[in-house]
Order: sequence, then structure tokens, then C-alpha cells
Amino acid sequence: MEHLAPIAPALLDWFEQNARTLPFRQDPTPYHIWVSEIMLQQTRVAAALEYYHRWMEQLPTIQHLADCPEEKLHKLWEGLGYYNRVRNLQKAAQIVCEQYGGELPGDYNTLLTLPGIGEYTAGAIGSIAFGLPVVAVDGNVLRVFSRLYNDSRDILSPATRRAFSQWVQHHQPPERAGDYNQALMELGALVCLPGGQPLCHQCPLAHLCRAKAAGTQLELPVKKAAKARKLVDVTLLVIHSPQGCLVQQRGKKGLLAGLWQPLVVEQAMSQEQILAHLEELGFTVKELSPLAPARHIFSHVEWQMQGWQVSVEEAPAPKGCQWASGEELEERYPIPGAFKAYRPAMK
Ligand code: ADE
Repeated sequence: MEHLAPIAPALLDWFEQNARTLPFRQDPTPYHIWVSEIMLQQTRVAAALEYYHRWMEQLPTIQHLADCPEEKLHKLWEGLGYYNRVRNLQKAAQIVCEQYGGELPGDYNTLLTLPGIGEYTAGAIGSIAFGLPVVAVDGNVLRVFSRLYNDSRDILSPATRRAFSQWVQHHQPPERAGDYNQALMELGALVCLPGGQPLCHQCPLAHLCRAKAAGTQLELPVKKAAKARKLVDVTLLVIHSPQGCLVQQRGKKGLLAGLWQPLVVEQAMSQEQILAHLEELGFTVKELSPLAPARHIFSHVEWQMQGWQVSVEEAPAPKGCQWASGEELEERYPIPGAFKAYRPAMK
């Protein structure tokens, strides 16, 4: 494959004119870059900013993160999803405090040894915060390069990612690695958009782009369909008594481990089955009415949820459950975004 003419000069000029002002760009310490990059995996910049500001107010240093109580940490992350990311952030912070004096190591391979830091994140921290000449290839960058090189290989395949990463490295000016990496992401986020909407007329690289020349930009990138998600029926019981709303802690392992939810049964249930189940748990039911159905999509599973509003007489909370006041729901029990549709009913 013959390389394109240099892309970096036009790309960096464009970035200087068009880069969004973002808090972690104004003060790109390793900690700031690390936390922002983990938040930005799977979350749009606009949505992540609010979380980022709150996080840095509460946890201004890696030591604060290492020492943060788990429930507070989950509260700070509530709604961002993929909770393993925040657990890994804390694990890594604890290692950094124990082994590296509280500062992230400025070495790519050492960064890679930390929990939750893979090639992309190590590349972003390494290049943006430490100025190392390494690449940071995310979905935006893969899309940009599939179009620049008019390459229809499946970007979900590791072999394609490796090949594209070499091209990204080939074009990187080593002394401006961080700006170059961010400029590629920014171009993907603002101009070389996914789906049918690339803004080629605004693109600083349009004159070099092989997909633009061939008219194939709308067909790229190619992503082979991922395996179908498993559909899971979920019955959700939002139970109120004079003691508050019942919350249940999820198991220590698996999806959303250790977080809190209304009472959940992972199967579809008839009204009769629900009444029998509630009775078994020792509840005297005063009222039972259906809420609107909702769904939530995880990476490998899709929940099809049917919620019910339940009113019961005063009773002890079943094993693994607690009665929570409105205030405790806000402050104390991290409720994942998957249950968002039922959050108003829990008030
Ligand atoms: N998306 C994820 N990280 C980013 C960054 N550093 N700049 C722009 N978009 C991003």
C-alpha cells in the first residue's frame, strides 16, 4: 500500500483553529488525561464534561481517588455505565500510590500494566500528557483512516486495527504526538462523522482522501455485524412501604456487580406470579400496578424490562435488600443508568 502524502501539517493547522476548549486540554496533567479518556470511552464529550468537573472537585489527586470510599466513587460514576472502568481506575490509583509515589509513570509499557489501561489509553496518556511519540487509535481514528486510505477491511478486526495503527504512526510528527493524536480524534468527532454524514466540504484532508476521490466515503468504515445480543426478560418491582423504597444489592460478580436496584427477577412474570413471589418474601401487598416497559442495551445483553409499582405494609427488608428514604436513594445507593426509566417511580 502506497502511503498518502503527509497529512500532519494540514491536520495540525485545522486542529489549532477548531479544537474544542476542553478542561483536560487546558490543564493536561497525566491524571486529568487519564480520567477524561476513561470517561470518554463510550460517552460523548458533552455528556462526560459534567461528570469530569464533579470528579475533579471531589477527587483532585490520584491519592484522593485511591482513598475514595466505594459508594462515593460509584455515585460519581452513576449513569456513565461500564462500572468496571471506575473500579479499575481506583485499583490503578492504589497501585500508583503504592509503587510510583502517587504519579502516573511516564512510560508506555509501564502504563499498560495498570488495570483498565490498554493500548488506546496508554497511547493517549503517553502522547498528550508525557509527549511520547506513541499513537492512540480509537473508533474515530479508525474511521478517519479507513476513509483516507479507502480501505474496506473490517475495523472491528484486530488485524485491521494493527495495520491502521501503523499508518497512524507513519504520519505522526514525533515532536507533536499529542496534538496529532487529538487532532485525529477531533476530526473524527467533528467532521469525518460516522453514518451517512461526513462533512467533507469542511475537511482539511479532503484533497488527500482516497474515499472522497472514489466516492466511497459513505460506505466506510466497514464494521462486520457483531454477534446478536442475548435478550433477557427482567421483571422489576418498585416496592414502597412506610419505611421507604426497597433497594436490592446486586451480586458481587457479573453485570453491574455490587450496585443497587429495585427488586429484580430475571424472567418475565405474570401478575399472579408476582403476587406469589411477594408473599413468599413476607410482604402484604396493598397495591400492584404495571409501569411502562423499558429496555437497556449492554454490550452483550439486552434487558427487556417490565416494571411494577408495588405498595406494601411495613415489613422487614428481605435478605440483601434495604429500605431507602428519598435522600438515601440520592446520596447512598448507586443506581445504575440501566434503571433510569424506573427512577421516578422510586421517589
Ligand atoms: N474522544 C476521546 N478522547 C478524546 C480527545 N482527547 N479529544 C477528542 N475526542 C476524544
